[in-house]
Parts: sequence; structure tokens; C-alpha cells
Amino acid sequence: MEHHSALRHIAFLLLLLPLLASIHCGQANPGPRLIHSIFSFGVSYADTGNFVKLAAPVFPVIPFSNLPYGETFFGRPTGRASNGRIIMDFIAEEFGLPFIPPILGEENNFTHGSNFAVLGATALDLAYFHEKNITSVPPFNSSLSVQLDWFQNLKPTLCSTPQGCRDYFRGSLFFMGEFGGNDYTFIMASGKTFGLVYVRDVVQAISEGVEQLVKEGGRYVVVPGQPPMGCIPIVLTLYASPNKTHYDRRGCLIKYNALARYHNRRLVAALYRLRIKYPAAKIVYGDYYTPVIEFLNEPTRYGFSASSGLHACCGAGGPYNYNMTAACGLSGVSACTDPATHINWDGIHLTESASRLIATGWLLGPLRTLAPILEAMSGSVDLKTSSIL
Ligand SMILES: *[C@@H]1O[C@H](CO)[C@@H](O)[C@H](O)[C@H]1NC(C)=O
Ligand SMILES: *[C@@H]1O[C@H](CO)[C@@H](O)[C@H](O)[C@H]1NC(C)=O
Ligand SMILES: *[C@@H]1O[C@H](CO)[C@@H](O)[C@H](O)[C@H]1NC(C)=O
Ligand SMILES: *[C@@H]1O[C@H](CO)[C@@H](O)[C@H](O)[C@H]1NC(C)=O
Ligand SMILES: *[C@@H]1O[C@H](CO)[C@@H](O)[C@H](O)[C@H]1NC(C)=O
Repeated sequence: MEHHSALRHIAFLLLLLPLLASIHCGQANPGPRLIHSIFSFGVSYADTGNFVKLAAPVFPVIPFSNLPYGETFFGRPTGRASNGRIIMDFIAEEFGLPFIPPILGEENNFTHGSNFAVLGATALDLAYFHEKNITSVPPFNSSLSVQLDWFQNLKPTLCSTPQGCRDYFRGSLFFMGEFGGNDYTFIMASGKTFGLVYVRDVVQAISEGVEQLVKEGGRYVVVPGQPPMGCIPIVLTLYASPNKTHYDRRGCLIKYNALARYHNRRLVAALYRLRIKYPAAKIVYGDYYTPVIEFLNEPTRYGFSASSGLHACCGAGGPYNYNMTAACGLSGVSACTDPATHINWDGIHLTESASRLIATGWLLGPLRTLAPILEAMSGSVDLKTSSIL
């Protein structure tokens, strides 16, 4: 086992490094432009401005609306919960598409797609939580099914007949997720006993969402899973344990990583069933878990500092540089001097450099999540980097 996993690290590294340069330069993908649009559903990992639009009239202070959010790439806060670009931005760049506008933002031309993701969103509807007496719920009605309603409302501006719409969405790339992390956080915060039934219901909701997209004509759907939840600074801070046996050798909380892996296993199984039901669709799993674990195992191999692992770049101190009452974006809280050397940005979300590595891994690297999509698009993988695939 150890031997295999060591080999996998090395393979991951060797395959990835030459690719970084190509993505970094942002050269247009020379392949045919067979994907004309991207539609994205999800939570804060994928939000590019919807939450700050919803929150502006309601909350006096919105950390994500303030620098240092956005400082590294955009030079201003964009509503992304990162210092720069997120995974979808890198993938859009690689397909030669512009950054995909948030549905609630200033942009109203959605020719190249739209992003429906909202920070804090859940896979399950608010009614689900209310029925179970779970009162800690997201501030906005923005669950997966609500995001799909927004998509349905946008549809008439993109296509007019059922067949015309199916033809249109055949050329779209869909991201369904990540979803579930917020559901689990809200359920745990409610003090209820955490039952695996919640995972079943979350995965069912994601699976139904994917199925709806496929019925609309969607052919290319990426469904990201959970990152290692037990390695996230906010989880490490909120659920800190005096019992050393609750931590793995990386310092991550074993129980929360086990939950993430259980979710991911169920999700992969659900996607497998969908692939059998819809053989023409390319439904692929986006692995967030493996790359983050690899970064933590060998940070310096990926350009991260050895000490950065479980420490947020932007924070106000504490063992993981995360403090909920003094969060990134609030006054007096500052970012580290070199965010590129950190995996985690604000205690919850990834830095731009970690997102770039994961996007590269999904596109062309060892994870090759998008390889079936690229192959289906062009008949063969003909990207400039294909020689090293
Ligand atoms: C929307 O953008 C597309 C591509 O950028 C452009 O061709 C089209 O004319 C725009 N539509 C409107 C109504 O501005
Ligand atoms: C929900 O909470 C209320 C008040 O605490 C209680 O009366 C009710 O029985 C609970 N319902 C369920 C389904 O647990
Ligand atoms: C959330 O919005 C949907 C429409 O997208 C609506 O059907 C539902 O009733 C709303 N739920 C709540 C709790 O407001
Ligand atoms: C620490 O946790 C382990 C595993 O949950 C448990 O068996 C052990 O009794 C705990 N030790 C203490 C001192 O609480
Ligand atoms: C978190 O920040 C608050 C407000 O600045 C401060 O009072 C508190 O001591 C901090 N907590 C920790 C554990 O550092």
C-alpha cells in the first residue's frame, strides 16, 4: 500500500509540473472549440459573486467583499472566496472561454454560460432542514434545486425549442458541485446526532441534479466530491480534540476525513449508475480529496511551504491561523506575504495556487477527470500537452 501510494505521488508530480507552465501562461487551447459554454452549480468553492449580491442589502459586513479577497489575480474582491482564480476559472481559460459570469452579477450576456453557485448553499432544500428541526440553515434560499430553478429561468434566453435546447446544452460543460459540505456543517452545528442517512439524502439530491442536466441535453458533467474535511482549518478549530488519537499523522481529524471519503464513495457509486442509465453522457467525478492530501503529504513538492499545510494564509492567529470572530476580510485581519506558498487561503477555501494545481490535475494531469470529455470532444486528445498524458 505504502509503496503504491509513494509511486502515485511521484507520478502525480512528474505529470503535473510541465503542465503548470502551460496553464500559467494562459495560452488558448488549440483544440476545436466544441465547448461553447459552462454552467456551474455549487457552494463557496465555486461562487464567483452571487453570495455578495444576495448579502449586500442584508448584511452590514461581508468579508468576501473586502480585500485581501481577490488580491492576487483580480486586484479587487470579486465575490470569489479566494485570493484569485478558482478551479472553474482555470478550466474556462483552458477551453478558451471568458470567466463565467455569476447569474446575479452585473453581466447579463450569458452566451458563454453562467455560474449559479452560492456561498453557503446546500444540496438539500431548506424544507428538509426545517422538517428535521435543524435551525442553523443557510441565510439564503439557494439550494441545489433553487439553483436549477434559476437555470430553468435563464433557458429561454439561450434556446427556444426543446430540441434546440438539447442541441445547445450538448456543447456545454456543466459543474454540479461540490455540494454536501455545507449540509453536513449545518447538521453538525445543530447538535443532532449525525446519521449516515444524511449522506444518502445529499448524494441522492446531487444525483437527481445531474440527471436533470442530462435530460436537458447536457453531455459533459463534472461532479466534484468533498475535499478532506478533517484537514480544513475551520473544522480543525471548531472540532479540536484533546485526544491525540483523533488525528492522523498529517494532523487532520480522522472522523471528518472519513465522512468526506464516505460521501465520495457513495457519490462515485451514484455517478456509476447514472453512466449506465445515460451511456451517451460523460459524467465524471471531480476528485478534490486526493490532491489536497498529496499537497499535505509533500507540500514542498508542489511549491507550498513546509509549515503552511494546515495553516490558513489569511487569518488572525490561533493554531491554524483561523478565528471565526476575526475572519479574513474583516478589519485588522491580514494575509500572509506569499499566498502562493499556502494551500489554504482563509481557513475554509483554497488559495489560487492550490486551485490551479487541482484544475491542472483534472484537465491533463494524473487525475484526468476531464479526459473522457476531451476525448469525446475531439475524437482524440489533441491538446498541445498530449504527448505526456
Ligand atoms: C453576447 O456575447 C457574445 C459573445 O461574446 C456576442 O457574440 C453577442 O453579440 C453578445 N450578445 C449581446 C446581446 O450583446
Ligand atoms: C422540533 O422542536 C420543537 C421545539 O423544540 C419540538 O416541540 C418538536 O417536537 C420538534 N419536532 C421534531 C420533529 O423533532
Ligand atoms: C425557495 O425558492 C423556491 C423557488 O426556487 C421555492 O419554491 C421555495 O418555496 C423557496 N423556499 C423557501 C423556504 O423560501
Ligand atoms: C481517545 O479516543 C480513542 C478513540 O476514540 C478512545 O478509545 C480513547 O479512550 C480516548 N482517550 C481518552 C483519554 O479519552
Ligand atoms: C479570536 O478573535 C477575537 C477577536 O479579535 C479575540 O478576542 C479572541 O481572543 C481570538 N481567539 C483566539 C483563540 O485567538
